[in-house]
Amino acid sequence: MSIVYENGVFTLQTAHSTYQMKISEHGHLLHLYYGSRISDADVSYLIPRVVRSHESNPAEAGEDRVYSLCAYPQEFSSNDAGDYRVPSIELINPDGSYAFVGKYRTHTIYHGKYRLSTLPTLFARQNENADTLEIVLEDEVTHVSVKLLYSTFYEKDIITRSAILYNSSEGEIRLQRLMSASLDFMTCDYDMIDFFGHHYLERQTDRHPLTHGINEIGSFRGASGHFHNPFVILCDHNTDEDRGNAYGFCLMYSGNFVFDAEVDGYSQTRVAMGIHPKQFEFKLAKGETFEAPEVAMAYSADGLSELSHRYHDIFRENACDSKFVSAQRPILINSWEPFYFSFDSEKLIRTAESAKALGVELFVLDDGWFGTRNDGRSGLGDWVANEQKLPGGIPALADKIHQMGMKFGLWFEPEMVNEDSDLYRAHPDWVLRVPNRAPSRSRHQLCLDLSRPDVCAHLIQAVNDVLDAGGVDYVKWDYNRYVCDVYSQYYPANRQGEIYHRYILGLYKILDGIIKTHPHILFEGCSGGGGRFDGAMLTYFPQIWCSDNTDAISRLTIQYGTSFAYPVCTMGAHISACPTKKTKRTVPFKTRAVTAMHGTFGYELDPAKMSEEEIDECSEYTTFYKKHRVLIAYGDYYRLSSPYDDSIFTAWQFVSKDRGQSLVCAVTQDISILDRNCYIHLRGLESDSLYEIPQTGQTLSGAALQNIGILLPHTQPQYNAFIFEIKKLNTKTI
Ligand code: GLA
Repeated sequence: MSIVYENGVFTLQTAHSTYQMKISEHGHLLHLYYGSRISDADVSYLIPRVVRSHESNPAEAGEDRVYSLCAYPQEFSSNDAGDYRVPSIELINPDGSYAFVGKYRTHTIYHGKYRLSTLPTLFARQNENADTLEIVLEDEVTHVSVKLLYSTFYEKDIITRSAILYNSSEGEIRLQRLMSASLDFMTCDYDMIDFFGHHYLERQTDRHPLTHGINEIGSFRGASGHFHNPFVILCDHNTDEDRGNAYGFCLMYSGNFVFDAEVDGYSQTRVAMGIHPKQFEFKLAKGETFEAPEVAMAYSADGLSELSHRYHDIFRENACDSKFVSAQRPILINSWEPFYFSFDSEKLIRTAESAKALGVELFVLDDGWFGTRNDGRSGLGDWVANEQKLPGGIPALADKIHQMGMKFGLWFEPEMVNEDSDLYRAHPDWVLRVPNRAPSRSRHQLCLDLSRPDVCAHLIQAVNDVLDAGGVDYVKWDYNRYVCDVYSQYYPANRQGEIYHRYILGLYKILDGIIKTHPHILFEGCSGGGGRFDGAMLTYFPQIWCSDNTDAISRLTIQYGTSFAYPVCTMGAHISACPTKKTKRTVPFKTRAVTAMHGTFGYELDPAKMSEEEIDECSEYTTFYKKHRVLIAYGDYYRLSSPYDDSIFTAWQFVSKDRGQSLVCAVTQDISILDRNCYIHLRGLESDSLYEIPQTGQTLSGAALQNIGILLPHTQPQYNAFIFEIKKLNTKTI
């Protein structure tokens, strides 16, 4: 067992990390330690026994002025009981009071991984070394209790947490905040790394030292969002890719979230992560429960690359159980950028034929195939093929694509509706909108009310009808606007604080009802590009479209930021035509190919408009990707340089788990310092092994490649790309 309980101390061990908690003399659960592996011995000596004047002391502490909930590190903090930091919980009790003080009641330890009944979680595979600890804390007065859930993935060095609230009080409670995880560090000397952005520029990397007060990021858009990602790193100020302490916190949730790192007046740090409490109020009748989404935590003593490897491994192996997770992902061509809404069967078939000749394996028909959807203003919601564009509907088109020896894929955006649609005309009450107010539109669409069971049932049926008619091998599931006017006509006025969360619960139900019943279909997530790229989505979608921005240079920062938590095999990345739609930038075809190989590779262009030279290059890169796609998807990924640094190039590397093969990619960004000698320092190789590099004609030791590096060819123009294959020889250097 990797979880031990002894003398009131809980110790969770993974291969390289330890997490410890202790039941205090008054029954509060204290957080003691999370960091490099230590023994199971109690480390509570780290709590100073000093009187913090002006802090309150709980009644049971009597004359002990040292014992204060605000000064002691808490595992699940109380509310309205003298801990003034961001709380784990806020609620209104049946008597109108806000107090909650959780005290230890009981615990259980068992082998395996807990699951939640309403929310997606990571899961343990057969024979996985995973253990679970459940601790129940109860308020002695109201009897409201919370079960804290912890699972360890021993070899993967991941600890997951969640919390379930039980209303065992005598009346109805109003839950206003329930954090999934909260823990207190005794100091504040950390940098916070988070990932911000917007549509077309997702997951830009931000790093700043924590300051006193609340350092907060989050989303209040009804989705995890483009603007902040529910993944945050805290690390030492000098932590880099190879060295230093780093902690990751990844919320497995696709809706509103908050991450707080509060540095208090004693320069201690409280971390709290969970559902955003804004406009959140869940009524729980006596006996009802509420589940908080899971947080996946990782700790690395060896810098950011190691932290990323932990997340990459867990997301590749323990998030989604689709057979596609470990399969070779098909190279696809998508109709959106080449045609938008303007296509017919013939045009699509011609495109598929040309794509097939280039080695493409999957043809994806994007938006515009259904209802009256000839632009963004109508038809959304009517999931019936437009026979004028597609005679014989989807099965007929899919059949033709299959005859060419390709797979066929289809776009859906089930959560949305145009007002000009049959669905909206039939059910105007099925959208989120505030009574007596005109609804705000985005992209000419409204958001369906997924908190309603009838809407969920309809969507499951409507999408399944198309899929069950046959021919579809892949689905792109899009979500293209944020919600506001969040009000459901299905629920009474005093339950509107539940709608944001009920929407997400509805979404997961729909995904279960469609994805789990079609295991032969590869599902890709999307949200105006990468606006809902989170751990929970990865439990359904083995891959997610990373960004609508297909400009190779913009993609350098987008993919770099995404890689901190999410593995490369989850990132949809395509070659598009130049100049690209958003940035109007033109870069060489090879550069587009090299950046698109940083993910599940595909094309977003019309082969009919390509030059002969581009067509030749296309076949070359398609073949190259096929040769290396297993290494790219399942190898260890290293960020060799940052696109934000003042360097000429951005480079990254894939290394097979057995260290025998590697691929190094670099894109030059800056020619202002052309004559500087640039070396790409490789990582992850065996120092004493010899490696062959066909592109340079050299044979070099792992030590040389890592310490001296590969010399980047001189005098290359801006936005050029390089790719080096590295293959281990059977000889050692000594
Ligand atoms: C979103 C997606 C695009 C495309 C369009 C279709 O913007 O990110 O890839 O599917 O919707 O409307």
